[in-house]
Amino acid sequence: MDKWFESKLSQLGKLDYYKKPEKYNKGLKLDANENLALKKDFIKKIAIKAAEREDLREYPLQQVDDFYLQLSKYTKIDKKYLAIGNGSDQIIDLILSVFGKEKRVTTFTPTFSYFIDRCLLYSLKIDKIPLLQDNSIDNKKFIQSAKKSEIIYICSPNNPTGNQFDKELLIELIKIFDDKLIIIDEAYVEFASYSFCYETIKSQNIILLRTLSKAFGLAGARLGYCIANEDFAHTFKTIIQYPYAINNISLNIGSEILKNSKYIEKTIKIIKKERKRILNSLKELNNNEIKVFQTESNFIFFQISDMNKYENVLAQLKKDNIAVKTIGRIKDRKGGHIRVTIGTKMMNNKFLRSLDKVI
Ligand SMILES: Cc1ncc(COP(=O)(O)O)c(C=O)c1O
Repeated sequence: MDKWFESKLSQLGKLDYYKKPEKYNKGLKLDANENLALKKDFIKKIAIKAAEREDLREYPLQQVDDFYLQLSKYTKIDKKYLAIGNGSDQIIDLILSVFGKEKRVTTFTPTFSYFIDRCLLYSLKIDKIPLLQDNSIDNKKFIQSAKKSEIIYICSPNNPTGNQFDKELLIELIKIFDDKLIIIDEAYVEFASYSFCYETIKSQNIILLRTLSKAFGLAGARLGYCIANEDFAHTFKTIIQYPYAINNISLNIGSEILKNSKYIEKTIKIIKKERKRILNSLKELNNNEIKVFQTESNFIFFQISDMNKYENVLAQLKKDNIAVKTIGRIKDRKGGHIRVTIGTKMMNNKFLRSLDKVI
């Protein structure tokens, strides 16, 4: 008999997969875009209270309703347009596994690599249109490709480049492609200039992804959500999503954090201020060796035009125990690329000092 299981396993083993950040014990962790301006103790207190309040012998029920209530208050969106997941990673996974069969996706490159890897896992065809040198979308090529696809994925602001795209262009794409599923990933929207929130609830074909892992400082709690039309949100909640996808404690923590959104907003302001300062510092460092890109996120994306210099910078950062996301070479561009999370002033200064030793 055909050893179908073995052969499928071997085929899966050859796929690319999401590479998690390295574990750093005592170093500076600037590689995963978490909110480091948020006080660790603030989250800790909320987590302890939540653990005390919850009875883990019971499945989550009321906790889900409470979380939706807080989410609805925070987003100012009726809960009929909201659906939650075990991180937005899980929502992406479920969308692709349910709607992706034999479909083709248009996106750009570079973008959120997990999304691409998930498409490959579910055997979707994927067309990645390279972003232009300034990280903007190649409109003509993108539209040409999207015409042949059923799904469009737009990360806004984009990870790893950090920028948002021309809003008018995106509005145009939404208008032209009302027959496609458009996934807009707004994981970093709290740091950005605009959102597609209201366009989404008026449409039948847009799913907007959000997360509490970034601005809300809850990467470890695994809470994501999406905003979509009422039909999708309802079907997702009742049929597509697992019955008890998120645990009691995470839901409870999530509700408390959302009640404290004023404090979160304060940390966002700090990060945005720091963003401006680091951008200026990097620009001043050395114009010929470093190219820094405009960012609307809680991270900065930059290019070191000489590959040897790039390697030296990485070695120096490692020596100083600073973890950053190494993007490396991008086709048709010079040198290597780095994505670095914006932390507190002290953390950022440490990063800048390390860079200064090489550049
Ligand atoms: C663009 C983007 N979308 C989604 C996610 C996943 O978020 P979550 O932690 O909610 O699964 C990330 C995490 O890095 C991301 O960068």
